[in-house]
Amino acid sequence: MTPINENFGKLPGSYLFSTVAKKVAAYAAAHPEAKIIRLGIGDVTQPLVPAVIKALHAAVDEMGRAETFRGYAPDLGYSFLREAIAENDFKARGCDISSDEIFVSDGAKSDSANIQELFGADAVIAVCDPVYPVYVDSNAMAGRCGEYDTEAGRWTRVIYMPTTAENGFVPELPKETPDLIYLCSPNNPTGTALRKNELQKFVDYANEVGAVILFDAAYEAYIEEADVPHSIYECEGAKTCAIELRSFSKNAGFTGLRLGFTVVPKELVRGGASLHAMWARRHGTKFNGAPYIVQRAGLAVYTPEGKAEIREQIAAYKKNAAIIRDGLTAAGYTVFGGVNSPYLWLKTPEGMSSWEFFDWLLETVHIVGTPGSGFGPSGEGYFRLTAFGSLENSVEAMERIRKARV
Ligand code: MLT
Repeated sequence: MTPINENFGKLPGSYLFSTVAKKVAAYAAAHPEAKIIRLGIGDVTQPLVPAVIKALHAAVDEMGRAETFRGYAPDLGYSFLREAIAENDFKARGCDISSDEIFVSDGAKSDSANIQELFGADAVIAVCDPVYPVYVDSNAMAGRCGEYDTEAGRWTRVIYMPTTAENGFVPELPKETPDLIYLCSPNNPTGTALRKNELQKFVDYANEVGAVILFDAAYEAYIEEADVPHSIYECEGAKTCAIELRSFSKNAGFTGLRLGFTVVPKELVRGGASLHAMWARRHGTKFNGAPYIVQRAGLAVYTPEGKAEIREQIAAYKKNAAIIRDGLTAAGYTVFGGVNSPYLWLKTPEGMSSWEFFDWLLETVHIVGTPGSGFGPSGEGYFRLTAFGSLENSVEAMERIRKARV
């Protein structure tokens, strides 16, 4: 018999958003009259901005002419995009990151799942709890998480850092020493964000114990408060302990186009090996580069027109976030997030479990959200809504919730 990767058999159920999608599809099939409002998966709904569309058209035309046709993209990304990223996302914020420390990819989901390949099979991971499920599931597939305890909803070999209302959504430093620390700020799923001093504490700790921080900044474009860092490299010493993952999905609506990048500083060395060189080797072997037309579209995001158009788009999602936050608060819910983030994180009412509230919301007011317990044991009793719907749907959803308070 061909041996298989038995770690897959340890994973609980299906991927969180697939489970939600299946439940919703079954409900919709049984209740075709229900006007379902989807505020579950964090998928954007506004079309790509004109500057991006223009760049896509121009790049498609280039691909249709022999003189400008492009084959394989450079596997680490075209320099025009890597330079624009270094300039706009880092140098403009005072972070000393150079273009050759930037690795362009097809999105932050794949990078955040693949980055664990750089580390040993016995590396111990620490995650915030609740957490974006990709970090844990990808490590579980690699056999790093031990066994899944179904009753407790947790893996035996993962350090969970509770991130709840009780600690103001700021995780404490782990008591046992991890090798890898996953942090996401602004946070998915809680919608809260770490302040600079809070993030600096993790950077200092990682440097002290020799851990590596995998910092997911996919939602940085939603930051509005001045003391919330946009990049971990705003913290002193981060270049010797942190890798940063970025996405074009949530800031520029690229969920369907696919583009992201990862920053691996050259100073980041563990076990005598350069993680930058290792990621370059991995990228070169397993990836043939993001498509030229998509990288051109990415470049358009950094043009003056692109920046202005995208700012408007984000402002619209943030307006939805405010509507949802105010609507839930007025309906008597306790709500977090939604200020530096497109996610709202609410306490389920009347001691309902996250999945009970999911069913109630779907069946009573036909609104889809994501149960907090799907993101980890400390997510139980919480629920996530996204601001990525339309203005009309956000308003309508709050109207329905107000009328039907549990
Ligand atoms: C989410 O809903 O958490 C995200 O959309 C998932 C993702 O970005 O992969």
